[in-house]
Amino acid sequence: MEKLECVFCDKKYPVDVFNPFCPDCAEPLLVSGPKKKRIFHLDEKLAIRMFRDFLPLETTDPGLSLGEGDTPLLKLDRLMTKFNLPLVLAKNETVNPTASFKDRGSIVAVHKAISLGIRKIGTISTGNMAGSTAAYAAKARLKSVIFVKEDTTKEKILSAGIYGPVLVKVKGDYGQLFRKSFEIGRKYGIYFMNSVDPFRIEGYKVTGYEIFLQLDARAPDYIFTPVSAGGHLIGLMRAYLDLKEDGFIQKMPVFVGVQAKGCSPLAHAFARGCTTFSRFPNPQTIAHAISNPNPPGGNIVLKMIRENKGMMLSVTEAEILKAQTLLAEYEGLFCDPASATVLAGLLQLSKKSKLKMRDRIVLIITGSGLKTIEDLDAGKIDYHEASVESLEKKVANVLL
Ligand SMILES: Cc1ncc(COP(=O)(O)O)c(C=O)c1O
Ligand SMILES: [Zn+2]
Repeated sequence: MEKLECVFCDKKYPVDVFNPFCPDCAEPLLVSGPKKKRIFHLDEKLAIRMFRDFLPLETTDPGLSLGEGDTPLLKLDRLMTKFNLPLVLAKNETVNPTASFKDRGSIVAVHKAISLGIRKIGTISTGNMAGSTAAYAAKARLKSVIFVKEDTTKEKILSAGIYGPVLVKVKGDYGQLFRKSFEIGRKYGIYFMNSVDPFRIEGYKVTGYEIFLQLDARAPDYIFTPVSAGGHLIGLMRAYLDLKEDGFIQKMPVFVGVQAKGCSPLAHAFARGCTTFSRFPNPQTIAHAISNPNPPGGNIVLKMIRENKGMMLSVTEAEILKAQTLLAEYEGLFCDPASATVLAGLLQLSKKSKLKMRDRIVLIITGSGLKTIEDLDAGKIDYHEASVESLEKKVANVLL
């Protein structure tokens, strides 16, 4: 049976999903061991079965799956030409069942809930994790309790509410709500599988293994991903640490965590060489999905980025909006502003000429633009109007 471990003081604890934090350091605990021989089960179709040796699950149940994972790695030909870039590939996580990478974590955490006999699960979320957790609860016949921030958009509330959770819009500080959810969870037997839940993080590793296999069993040179609480980046880095430990790769990719300038506590700390971050004052960005001023996994991210020679960047609102449009217009990829930060980050880095033409770069497109329609700058999207009678003339005029 696995244990939970604090990466700061190295102490190990038995699994307690109701309070997965180090009692001494107050940092999130991560899964540790047991060590086993690991292989890829390439004959399996489902991601959680293909990579089961790398997951802390005794059994995997295809009946709990909504078809998460196995997402395409798309070559961004047109953007490569336009910006004279080396090979750039997009791991399109928007095609997951609830349109974001969160499903990869939810499937693993739901397995854990069931194996522990827990019948109620929950999460706090700005949107994507709410929908994902509620959908996987529905599939597994579990009750779900979802707390969303007061300013969560109607689209995100409805796209979680449709799965039938107990949904509460909560006023107040998000950091306090994070802690409160664990108090409520313990009292009422609800497993809050929040952003840095240790089992959710293990599920994110699968994206890393898929990229490795899609690149013919080689690591990319760079992996860019948007960062909020930090769970996703921690999972991706753990995947490549596993691959290194098992001798599949010799060198880690350079992980580039990207934040919006308007809420960039980790990029800020990284730029100053700090080992811990400070709460970001007055967060303000269109990239709502990554607007967390006090990321619970922040200090782990800074530690792992430092140890593995990665970096944290921040990008402006203008860079984010431009990147979102470029991905759609040049590559047919409609992502949310949080995901667009990765292209913005790559363009920023390429201007500092840090890249080599033989580099292989992966951008993780974490969430769909369809859940953030309200954030689109409608004024920028051109359309014409015509009557049926005048239509042909209009089209001819526009085309000429
Ligand atoms: C679309 C999208 N991208 C990135 C993230 C950041 O993930 P994490 O909080 O694990 O750092 C989130 C988190 O909500 C998200 O919804
Ligand atoms: Zn500790």
